[in-house]
Amino acid sequence: MNDLPLETPEDQILALRRDIERHTYLYYTKAAPEITDREFDAMLASLEVLEKEHPELSDINSPTQRVGGAPLDAFSQVSHAQPMLSLANTYDRDELAEFDNRVKKLLGGAPYAYVLEPKVDGVAISLTYENGKLTTAVTRGDGRTGDDVTANIRTIRSIPLLLHSDAPPKHIEIRGEVYMSVSGFNTLNETREQAGLAPFANPRNAAAGSLKLLDASTVAQRPLDAVFYAVGACEGITFETHVALTEQLHAFHMKTFTRQWPCAGMDGLNHALDDLLEHQAEFDYQIDGAVIKVNQVAHYAELGATAKSPRWAISYKYEPEQATTRLKAITIQVGRTGVLTPVAELEPVQVAGTTVSRATLHNEDEIRRKDIRVGDSVIIEKAGEIIPAIVRVLVEQRSGDEQPFHMPNSCPTCGMPAEKREGEVAYRCVNLQCPAQLKNWVRHFAARAAMDIEGLGDVLVDQLVDQNCIRDPSDIYSLQQETLAGLERMGEKSAIRVLDGVATSKCRDMWRLIAGLGIPHVGTKAAQTLESHFASLAELALADVETLEGIDEIGPIMAASIYNFLRDPRIAEMIERLRSQGVNTERLPDAVVAKQDGLLSGQTLVITGTLETMTRDEAQELVRQHGGKTASSVSAKTSFLVAGAKAGSKLAQAEKLNVSILSEAEFRAHLQS
Ligand code: IVH
Repeated sequence: MNDLPLETPEDQILALRRDIERHTYLYYTKAAPEITDREFDAMLASLEVLEKEHPELSDINSPTQRVGGAPLDAFSQVSHAQPMLSLANTYDRDELAEFDNRVKKLLGGAPYAYVLEPKVDGVAISLTYENGKLTTAVTRGDGRTGDDVTANIRTIRSIPLLLHSDAPPKHIEIRGEVYMSVSGFNTLNETREQAGLAPFANPRNAAAGSLKLLDASTVAQRPLDAVFYAVGACEGITFETHVALTEQLHAFHMKTFTRQWPCAGMDGLNHALDDLLEHQAEFDYQIDGAVIKVNQVAHYAELGATAKSPRWAISYKYEPEQATTRLKAITIQVGRTGVLTPVAELEPVQVAGTTVSRATLHNEDEIRRKDIRVGDSVIIEKAGEIIPAIVRVLVEQRSGDEQPFHMPNSCPTCGMPAEKREGEVAYRCVNLQCPAQLKNWVRHFAARAAMDIEGLGDVLVDQLVDQNCIRDPSDIYSLQQETLAGLERMGEKSAIRVLDGVATSKCRDMWRLIAGLGIPHVGTKAAQTLESHFASLAELALADVETLEGIDEIGPIMAASIYNFLRDPRIAEMIERLRSQGVNTERLPDAVVAKQDGLLSGQTLVITGTLETMTRDEAQELVRQHGGKTASSVSAKTSFLVAGAKAGSKLAQAEKLNVSILSEAEFRAHLQS
């Protein structure tokens, strides 16, 4: 007999919810997971089973509810307990000095200090927690009343559904910014363009557009995140300083700024501003300036507020990096899925430290909307790693010779008709054999992030497609040495090298093949997820849409895309040809072994700075192969920081937290030990 008291289902459910929320926090907020994705999925699945068996114990704040329920007809309006004010703006340091003088005067000699923080270019949000439970999430709206977007906000994994605290305040409004990371934004736009949907202009629009969706299950598929920096009305808690306030939010397990600059006086502010500017690329979000706040909360009442903004804080806005240049031509790029994308060919110009000679124009609608004509003088903008874009045309500089643009009604590469599908803004080339599509497809298949075929570069792919030697990626595996050696700029030696690369690629991990197939919406991360759920490509091809959708991280759009792609007879035949030519189509046994018993198993590494002997992707893949994980920010849970040249704040953070730091050479040596 077991004399331990039996756990009730309620105890089990509560314990599971608590554990899952903790692991969600470790993964999404700290970027330092302690368990594998599989273990996490298993916990969530057990909770789902228990909740189904005990519907009376259901709770809207259960982690199982983060996937979104039935779509809404409209958002209801909710009043903010304390209005959401905005901030006055300054654009130069003189204006900032005026702000400092005003504060000094109003405080009549009392000591005060500042805290400088990033100004996040996102969408303002106010979360209400009652006794530690998330009850509502409301957009700013007109400052007094906003849209109730609670269902959408619950899908953001880094936002705690329950505040981490033994004695949470009775009531608190926590304020911050919902954003989309630049990498999430770029991936989202890429998949939208492939699907023929209009891309978002920038991460802020993408975040705002996502938050406005009435269907939370779609929002759950968008790479949204949020960071918090203020409180509104609260009961049962007070703060002496802004720094203490943000520390409390951090202790509640909310995402806060990884860096803040406490400072005093204009010298301190100037220094902090320079430092933020220098480090802005290291944040996950777009920053459009700084926010300067008086640190001592006791001074806020004295300083007061105007109708629109408090007098204890101000924003300092950076001018976006822009340049003026001339649009020489508009060319058409044919993507892997046949989408025709207009591209602006520009007079080369320097912006944000790089020479820009091309900018994406997305689609014809966008060109119409901005009235962009060939020959126009245009203002282009480049922010961080975002692809440069044309902001507007300098209409006043037109000579009259500028030419309006029309999308061609045939593919510029193969001459076959271009068509617009219903509900899409993009034109597509309908020819499945179009050489431009085929070249992109084969390049994608052979790329580093997919089958990684050494020696099969862009020029060679072009030649092979032009000479009809390749009609789909499976033809790579029947290439003959004589064919290769007979091509321009190829000799016996290079032909042998290519064939070696081709042969080596036959034994790659299955996820690389899945990624290389070119399934719309499926990138390397999704391919890896699929590999961990299916032992072979044949098994994946049998999965129905429901099974695919049931996998965490695979949404309805991706599930439908995988299902339809693998049912295309042309694709099925190609996969069969790949298999019969000896290309691995199964999960390799050592893929799992490497994950569990690798040199880096259970460890989380952060890679920063410029590496010399490998790309960032290659370094991440090395970590993965050795069973480790990589994260984008340094925390106390980081096992190692690999620091390349010009490492910045992550290096400083690692030093502060006593995290071991490896140079690139030490990292390589470590893996060989
Ligand atoms: S504090 C009472 N801190 O900028 C003022 N706002 O232009 C409370 N924002 O409405 C806002 N980063 O949406 C604050 N570090 C930061 C911010 C920030 C971005 C947004 C916020 C605000 C707007 C004002």
